[in-house]
Amino acid sequence: MKHLMDIIDFTVDELYSLMDTANDIIAHPDKYADSCRGRKLATLFFEPSTRTRLSFEAAMLELGGSVIGFSDGGNSSASKGESVADTAKVVSMYADIIAMRHPMEGAPYVAAGNASVPVINAGDGGHHHPTQTLADLLTIYREKGGFGNLTVGVCGDLKYGRTVHSLIAALARYKNVKIVLISPEELRVPDYVKSDIMDRSGMQYEETACLEDAIPFLDVLYMTRIQRERFADKDEYERLKDSYILTAEKLSAAKPDMTILHPLPRVNEISVKVDDDPRACYFKQVANGKYMRMALILKLLDETDASSEPMRDCETPLGLHCDNPRCITSCEQELEHAFKPAEGKKGVYRCAYCDREYKK
Ligand code: NCD
Repeated sequence: MKHLMDIIDFTVDELYSLMDTANDIIAHPDKYADSCRGRKLATLFFEPSTRTRLSFEAAMLELGGSVIGFSDGGNSSASKGESVADTAKVVSMYADIIAMRHPMEGAPYVAAGNASVPVINAGDGGHHHPTQTLADLLTIYREKGGFGNLTVGVCGDLKYGRTVHSLIAALARYKNVKIVLISPEELRVPDYVKSDIMDRSGMQYEETACLEDAIPFLDVLYMTRIQRERFADKDEYERLKDSYILTAEKLSAAKPDMTILHPLPRVNEISVKVDDDPRACYFKQVANGKYMRMALILKLLDETDASSEPMRDCETPLGLHCDNPRCITSCEQELEHAFKPAEGKKGVYRCAYCDREYKK
């Protein structure tokens, strides 16, 4: 059985094959209308969502399947203290596939380790959001014709913005993609993204705080919202919330064919006046997300024999304990802490759930 926890769970070939399926669904939707007849998707959303949950549900319905689930963990037995592991075991008895969004980093990994059906990470805290990346990749593929020789600017909250972490991990595997990281100093990408993904892949990247300086060089600009709900210090949020606002005036310095993306929801970081610009592709990106989720559901239901063990390669060196308050291990008492050796760094481990780094 295969799960999707992190975008790198798929090879580049598998990503191309998902994009091919999505393109085929777009061209011939009728062909797929009965593909999931009799199958059920469970959407377990412990955090707010519009696009991700509804696009998963629309995807399953358009494949002829049906949907069960909840959109607020407060209405589930989690509010009575039920663990993620128990929830996953129980829901496996009702559904053929699970999509889970959770505020705690690593919660879907716990679900995958306990479910008897495929589990999809639909966003875990500020960590990963692989199915948004599927939408992003298909949009770049359709707008740019491929991933060669692209300069991609990612702008906004690169620290807490999980969509950015997953997108960078995906783009790091294509040759000749250069990333420009545009953020305030306080909201730069986490170290594990920099050292384990960008440095290790050898991808070219630059960091800047100035959108205006970067914009003329970009083929794709990926705007993100400052993630208010993840800030421990609300004054810091107030100080940083208006860091970047993309306006028609700023766009006048951009390439005439630059693609503008945003995972949405937007707050004020893209002026609504930009929506009519032919370079604005964020609503097409929403539509592409549904088709990629259709392709993903088909793939995972088709591959229940494939193996993907979430806790593969884990060990728990004596005395190591994850103390990240945003990690699922911080709120589930009996969950065993688990670590993976950090690639290329002797004596350094990462929490298997949230990726926080520890030295032994
Ligand atoms: C994103 C998310 O939930 O991380 N939204 C989405 O799924 N399209 C981005 C965000 O909330 O800013």
